[in-house]
Amino acid sequence: MPPTTRARTLRIQVRRHQRDAGRDAMSDKIYEVSRDWAERAYVDAAQYRAMYEASAADPEAFWAEHGKRIDWFTPYTKVKNTTFGPGDVSIKWFEDGTTNVAYNCVDRHLETRGDQVAIIWEGDDPSESKRITYRELHAHVSRWANVLRNRNVQKGDRVTIYLPMIPEAAYAMLACARLGAIHSIVFGGFSPDALAGRIEDCGSRFVITADEGLRGGRKVPLKANVDAALKRLAADAVDHVVVVERTGGKVEMDPGRDVYYHAAAEMVTDECPCEEMNAEDPLFILYTSGSTGKPKGVLHTTGGYLVYAAMTHQYVFDYKDGEVYWCTADVGWVTGHSYIVYGPLANGATTLMFEGVPTYPSISRFWDVVDKHDVNIFYTAPTAIRSLMGAGEEPVTKTSRKSLRLLGSVGEPINPEAWEWYHRVVGEGRCPIVDTWWQTETGGILITPLPGAIAQKPGSATLPFFGVKPEIVDAEGKVLEGACEGNLCIADSWPGQMRTVYGDHERFVQTYFSTYPGKYFTGDGCRRDADGYYWITGRVDDVINVSGHRMGTAEVESALVAHPKVSEAAVVGYPHDIKGQGIYAYVTLMSGIEPSDELRAELVKHVRQEIGPIATPDKIQFAPGLPKTRSGKIMRRILRKIAEDEFGALGDTSTLADPAVVDDLIEHRQNKR
Ligand code: WTA
Repeated sequence: MPPTTRARTLRIQVRRHQRDAGRDAMSDKIYEVSRDWAERAYVDAAQYRAMYEASAADPEAFWAEHGKRIDWFTPYTKVKNTTFGPGDVSIKWFEDGTTNVAYNCVDRHLETRGDQVAIIWEGDDPSESKRITYRELHAHVSRWANVLRNRNVQKGDRVTIYLPMIPEAAYAMLACARLGAIHSIVFGGFSPDALAGRIEDCGSRFVITADEGLRGGRKVPLKANVDAALKRLAADAVDHVVVVERTGGKVEMDPGRDVYYHAAAEMVTDECPCEEMNAEDPLFILYTSGSTGKPKGVLHTTGGYLVYAAMTHQYVFDYKDGEVYWCTADVGWVTGHSYIVYGPLANGATTLMFEGVPTYPSISRFWDVVDKHDVNIFYTAPTAIRSLMGAGEEPVTKTSRKSLRLLGSVGEPINPEAWEWYHRVVGEGRCPIVDTWWQTETGGILITPLPGAIAQKPGSATLPFFGVKPEIVDAEGKVLEGACEGNLCIADSWPGQMRTVYGDHERFVQTYFSTYPGKYFTGDGCRRDADGYYWITGRVDDVINVSGHRMGTAEVESALVAHPKVSEAAVVGYPHDIKGQGIYAYVTLMSGIEPSDELRAELVKHVRQEIGPIATPDKIQFAPGLPKTRSGKIMRRILRKIAEDEFGALGDTSTLADPAVVDDLIEHRQNKR
């Protein structure tokens, strides 16, 4: 096996996020909470402090109370039963309660808000939109559940969802929850290979997809991708494929396996009872990239997850009845799970779902949609802000945006420059920005301003949410006090935390609880300032963040070395103005193979096929050799510096087996790019 595909040990370093190099990563500006906000919000500064202290002092009592925000079929009597080890790691919340997530997101609202809009759907084409009430949502979800039940989907079964951003994605998720099936959503931008791996890993015998997706006017061949994925698996691996007709494009249908949703739906009613689920029964699996190996199936369960998603949605966005809330994420990522579907719907909110992209048909699209649907709360990623900034202010200022009152950011550190632009141009200085730090693993937001309570500093995620205990530790695991910089851990459990890696509990323990025994290690570096504010500096492991999408460098390396002409590859992130980080690949070719631009293009295409367009390498540098220690470990630190053009700051190179390799790499970087 090539060395780069071997499991790598986590290299923990305390270092600044690469992207921050040379940028104004720190900002000493403070935006105080306005009096209006302090008055209208659920909590002001004093209430935040009191509630936070109560949550930290007695988590049992705090969550016993807040767990009641969802409806339980059997109320819980136990609240928190969690241990981070050392040794065993086990996380249970509300463990003897029973409930159903679809019941909480749909049925319980029927009496009071049946005619209220639950989902506003805005199509890729601006002439297409839909408004779906809670009553209609109930009918759709129930019918979907019956279609699945007719195909023998049962409690505990895994269902893979590979859909574009259409309301059916939410229906399918909630239909699974209704039946107690576990959904595993695969982002529509992933390749057939990546999809096949995810279907196989969780042994899902059901796939839900669409004929084609539509993004920025272009069609995405989803059903064809599913067909290609299933060809890579055993012939009988998947029993049923349910296909939503989105574009009407022609697709192949296997009569024994595939069915159009609209045909199947005619055979069933729109009445379907909710399965009674234990609080700790699984709700979904979501694959995410880590430092090593294949993506992990992050497992979230029912009760604690929903309580946490709903509570954070309410307080962080200060969501009030009747408001229109829009999160621009895709349901293929955790942000879409918690803050398009589960959190908002559990709160009876009106949530907007957008099929398209920020630049189609024009660069004003986001703001046109805000005006069209009178959006009050807008939540997006820094990469989108940075790409729109490039086009200047006019595409924003020509729209009204008067409905906006709160802005949010998620997915990667937001540089103060982008923060200020978002605040001044998009929000006209009147909308607070909640910079929300969290992860697929955390289920919901852990560090964030609350808009009526916490003054904002551009670039800082500010302070922990209720019940969250951040700790900054040094490389040896010593907990640092006061103003400091180190690695971010969380000392105790919160209800939204992942419970395990699907099918591999040992990997869960190893990945998150072994680096600093007894603590959850986030993989992020972090600084705490004198006011106790947290500043996330980026990943300290071999994960990179490209346009807010998490990518394991090891995954991209595996894809590269799978190419017959490649002998070895090392991938690092480098600062990218719009994407935050770009993908920089150093590639050593098999002997006798000559580097060329054609080969470079071939390798880029190959990675796109293996993983998907989001993993497209931005730069490939052919390298006759890679810098290794005498024990054969690639010195990634040096590769990062070279990719960043910081040739003078390579640090200690004395452990290199062959120092000449580095000079060679620098020379190539300078001459050939
Ligand atoms: C990064 C997305 C700085 C971080 C919800 C984390 C952030 C990873 C922020 C998780 C933020 C997310 N400021 N960094 N506000 N939000 N990150 O699992 O490195 O796709 O570990 O979850 O994104 O990415 P994931």
